[in-house]
Amino acid sequence: MSLDPVFRAEDLRPFIRRLMAAQRIDEQTAALMADSLVAAHARGVDSHGLQLVPFYSGQLDDGRVDPSKVGEPVSENGAVMVYDGQNGLGQAVADRCCDHAIRLARAHGLGCVVARESNHFGAAAWWAQKMSAQGMIGIVMCTASSMVAPWQGRDPRWGTNPICCSVPGPNGGGWLLDMATTTVAMGKIYRANVLGKEEIPAGWAMNRAGVPTTKTQEALWGLLMPLGGYKGSGLAFMVEMLCGVLSAGAISTELGGFRVKERPFRVCQFYLAIDVSRFQPVEEFAERMKKLIEMTKSSSPAEGYDEVLVAGEPEWRTEAIRLRDGVPVSEPLWNSIAEIAAKHGVAVPAAISHQLA
Ligand SMILES: NC(=O)c1ccc[n+]([C@@H]2O[C@H](COP(=O)([O-])OP(=O)(O)OC[C@H]3O[C@@H](n4cnc5c(N)ncnc54)[C@H](O)[C@@H]3O)[C@@H](O)[C@H]2O)c1
Repeated sequence: MSLDPVFRAEDLRPFIRRLMAAQRIDEQTAALMADSLVAAHARGVDSHGLQLVPFYSGQLDDGRVDPSKVGEPVSENGAVMVYDGQNGLGQAVADRCCDHAIRLARAHGLGCVVARESNHFGAAAWWAQKMSAQGMIGIVMCTASSMVAPWQGRDPRWGTNPICCSVPGPNGGGWLLDMATTTVAMGKIYRANVLGKEEIPAGWAMNRAGVPTTKTQEALWGLLMPLGGYKGSGLAFMVEMLCGVLSAGAISTELGGFRVKERPFRVCQFYLAIDVSRFQPVEEFAERMKKLIEMTKSSSPAEGYDEVLVAGEPEWRTEAIRLRDGVPVSEPLWNSIAEIAAKHGVAVPAAISHQLA
């Protein structure tokens, strides 16, 4: 059992920004990383919040990512752009790709940017929300390091390849789907490991031999379970195709990443902005979304549940609590972040309280 420090989000943001800037990252990208990581953590997506700080620092230390690069367009053809991330930080690349997708969608109704030679950008939601804040339906996907075997296989061939969709409208449109194409994101297994948990829930992972496991250590070096069997496998393949094949970037085991540390990550990303106003007024779309959400939630809850939720709701609820009461960071994770901060001479913020994990 650990005693987790709890911080104000407004204290964590400048701290992470300074910590990133102390590691050769320009101010704009450092701020972007801080804002997006703290946002994910505040939303309860701890797997893609501050937990990524030690991973990013390790990448910078090893020289596997080039913080001086932000990437550049390779080609622009109508509503379509191919972008070369030049091994820059994933957040710097993603931010620019979203800007291009929004610009192209304003001009053409749709804007699609595929990026290659990029890096990990954190939770996909931040980027899809950036597009939906501009009146677009934002769809984001990316590849990740190989940890998922194809259905009926036992050798890793794909990453956890997330798919995210965000819609415009009041309160974030009321619906935000952001999901790995595996039962859970790998970050949840890293989190179980950081917390010293020996067991993970059934259905999350298999060992290296492709046998289902609930042992955290086996899962760490094993395989992630595809979402819904061969259907999740098909979705992961689709993400590889839209990101890796279409961008002419790295595919499948050509990626580096969490387990392959001797070469760059080579992540590919897909950003689609759909200008809602080309279909109907944004207000009308928001009304229709509201109706769909209400109709969905009007279903009687199944046995064992109090209510029906739509995607995004669990995270918005956590966000409301954490922005009010503070953001808990697991003690082992905070210790490793504090160690990195000490190494770079960056002062850590004071916790506002502690809570038993
Ligand atoms: N950058 C990368 O390489 C990478 C790779 C994989 C995943 N990720 C990120 O990992 C994060 C976590 O992914 P995950 O798949 O573990 O998330 P998850 O399983 O916690 O949630 C997936 C989706 O289901 C929704 N949901 C949860 N409970 C629900 C309920 N009871 N009713 C209705 N909807 C519900 C959530 O709102 C969310 O949209 C995401 O932010 C994703 O972008 C990033």
